[in-house]
Amino acid sequence: MKQVWITRKGAPEVLKVRETTDPVPKEGHIRINVNFAGINFADILARMGLYPDSPKVPCVVGYEVSGVVDEVGEGVHSDWIGKKVASITRFGGYSSKVCVDVDQLMTLPEGISLESAAAMPVNYLTAYIMMVEQARFRKGDTILIHGIGGGVGIAALQLSKILEARSIIGTASAWKHDELSKLGADHLIDYNSEDFVNRVMELTEKRGVDLVLDPVGGKYVKRSYGCLRPLGSVVFYGMSSAAPGKRRSIVSGLSALLSSGKFHPIRLMNANKGVHGCNLGHLWSERDRLKKAMEQLAMWLKEGKITPVVDKVFTFENAAEAHGYIQDHRNLGKVLLTPQ
Ligand SMILES: NC(=O)c1ccc[n+]([C@@H]2O[C@H](COP(=O)([O-])OP(=O)(O)OC[C@H]3O[C@@H](n4cnc5c(N)ncnc54)[C@H](OP(=O)(O)O)[C@@H]3O)[C@@H](O)[C@H]2O)c1
Repeated sequence: MKQVWITRKGAPEVLKVRETTDPVPKEGHIRINVNFAGINFADILARMGLYPDSPKVPCVVGYEVSGVVDEVGEGVHSDWIGKKVASITRFGGYSSKVCVDVDQLMTLPEGISLESAAAMPVNYLTAYIMMVEQARFRKGDTILIHGIGGGVGIAALQLSKILEARSIIGTASAWKHDELSKLGADHLIDYNSEDFVNRVMELTEKRGVDLVLDPVGGKYVKRSYGCLRPLGSVVFYGMSSAAPGKRRSIVSGLSALLSSGKFHPIRLMNANKGVHGCNLGHLWSERDRLKKAMEQLAMWLKEGKITPVVDKVFTFENAAEAHGYIQDHRNLGKVLLTPQ
């Protein structure tokens, strides 16, 4: 099989394709002949040596794949062979063959392409966990979604529509605004030229929003919190401010950490505000809840209520270009890799 390896920490060019023997599924597992592997921002941080959860470099990352089952392990019915599936993978997704526990699989509703399926698991599960399980988003709530043009951002936008948000405000590079309005965002803020806190206050008649989803961290932490109305909450789920360039910078990493600030319980009490953190990769112990969330998402997918937006597909050989494309802020939606 083919795999894309992070050969050492560094710029996108450290990604290299290597050949190795096919994996054999163990008891209770199946093997997927991979058509598409999703790229997540965490893979980029891992490549730069900024992602503490990543396996030690050299390694193969990748959190999700879609493809067709081509072999089953002991105890798994052979009916699975030939089925189209998608799955979360705990690293190793940048491979042409992947073995996973049969319980982890998402079978695809009729008519869903393997391309869309690879764009689903991580982005939509993360958005669902934050909005439904953590912040308990209610009909009529107002939301601020940072990075609304990225994979998780568009997933959160589509879930906001399903959950009947009153107003969806997003931050994104200006060239993405027209397309994001068509996808249903009510107000878009170009964070490069506007102060998002001032804009949010203007747009909400100084009330603030009920929920902020913040994957940027660093200096955004205090400002995102400042956009909340009383009884509102913010979910922190990333630290992209630690990686402004393509090469590892200890200074940027440290500066993002140090500028993130602290929350004092008394100030939280007096402000009546909530602060959550979300890391999907640390939720493996909650398999039953993840499964329930995945079933709900598969239902919405089948009903056409959610539609993953795939921006571009790169071959394994062009994985470096794919990482560079995301880091140059050029993606609107999900970027995938294909071994074909
Ligand atoms: N905690 C979790 O479980 C979890 C799960 C999935 C993702 N995440 C986090 O969520 C964030 C989005 O992930 P994603 O996979 O949806 O990413 P993505 O599709 O690549 O989208 C990221 C978007 O964020 C914006 N951005 C902000 N800072 C950036 C930077 N330094 N470099 C490149 N783009 C930047 C860009 O939009 P503009 O050009 O419009 O700014 C870009 O389109 C990441 O921070 C990731 O680590 C967390």
